[in-house]
Amino acid sequence: MVKNLVEVRNLKKYFPVQKGFVETLLARKIDYIKAVDDISFNIRKGEVFGLAGESGSGKTTTGRLILRLTEPTEGKIFFNNTDISSLSPTEMRGFRKRMQIIFQDPYASLNPRMKIGDSIGHSLLIHKICDEDEKRKKVLNIMENVGLTPTNVLYGKYPHQLSGGQRQRAVIARALILQPDLIVADEPIAMADVSVRATLLKLMIDLKHEFNLTYLFITHDLATTKYICDRIAIMYLGKIFETGNIYDVYSNPKHPYTEALLSAVPIPDPKARRKHLIPGGEIPSPINPPPGCRFHPRCPHTMDICSKEEPELIDLGNNHLVACHLK
Ligand SMILES: Nc1ncnc2c1ncn2[C@@H]1O[C@H](COP(=O)(O)OP(=O)(O)O)[C@@H](O)[C@H]1O
Ligand SMILES: [Mg+2]
Repeated sequence: MVKNLVEVRNLKKYFPVQKGFVETLLARKIDYIKAVDDISFNIRKGEVFGLAGESGSGKTTTGRLILRLTEPTEGKIFFNNTDISSLSPTEMRGFRKRMQIIFQDPYASLNPRMKIGDSIGHSLLIHKICDEDEKRKKVLNIMENVGLTPTNVLYGKYPHQLSGGQRQRAVIARALILQPDLIVADEPIAMADVSVRATLLKLMIDLKHEFNLTYLFITHDLATTKYICDRIAIMYLGKIFETGNIYDVYSNPKHPYTEALLSAVPIPDPKARRKHLIPGGEIPSPINPPPGCRFHPRCPHTMDICSKEEPELIDLGNNHLVACHLK
């Protein structure tokens, strides 16, 4: 039996649009940004689940909702079969340790005035897990694990004294120090130098095995997901358009949007040519998303029904789901 670590059910996050005072007085209703608009998926224990899509599709908001860093508008989140969507902050405390996030920008997420070692071990003190001496031992250990060596020297350095790759290793170490079950990695290598991206990805895979981790891996880049993910969900304007195991989705994409995203992935063979399918035009506003299928104004295969009816996610077998009227 497959065990789910995370189950997301009909999750929604609507952000009220900020308006000026007069505008608020004149407006008859509040507008909402539908950042996440009724999505459901599971993350299985021990897998890397990818969440991909262009910028603005709601990936980061989904990650933050799962960690309860953002409150859902509607829907439920189960962590290890417990509904955490309605827990109070005190009840949530025990769960916080078990889920950690790695942000895109390691520089912004490390305190510039804190030594790297102290940043990595900070949460041990916050959660009153150990004293200063024990903290130092644990931190040096985890620094070894993520390749931040020589550990004794780097422990006392400040973020600006490290390279970009080392900073990202520090952020990974900090996420691991409480021995979490789930890591939400939000574009973890996007800011890193191209030359160290592959090394960081390999490190994340090694650590996953070493520490029995489960990842929610968020990215706009489908070349990376192919390398690291077991399963994937493709998001667009707050909706999941397609999901399945990585092989099915890559070898047999069923949604025109997935196809378009895949066409932008570079092929290693310089002679190979592929049609570049990423459709022109801007991503429509998530405040008033297009009626019917949200992708229809950009879709090369759009039909009458597409602007009228919103397609539901249909299972094509082998847990490969797609929301498209063409299927
Ligand atoms: N705190 C917020 N307040 C208002 N709007 C937000 C907030 N966070 C995200 N959004 C909006 O929600 C949409 C989805 O954003 P995000 O989840 O960051 O997408 P992604 O990570 O896929 O780029 C965007 O239109 C964004 O501007
Ligand atoms: Mg994001």
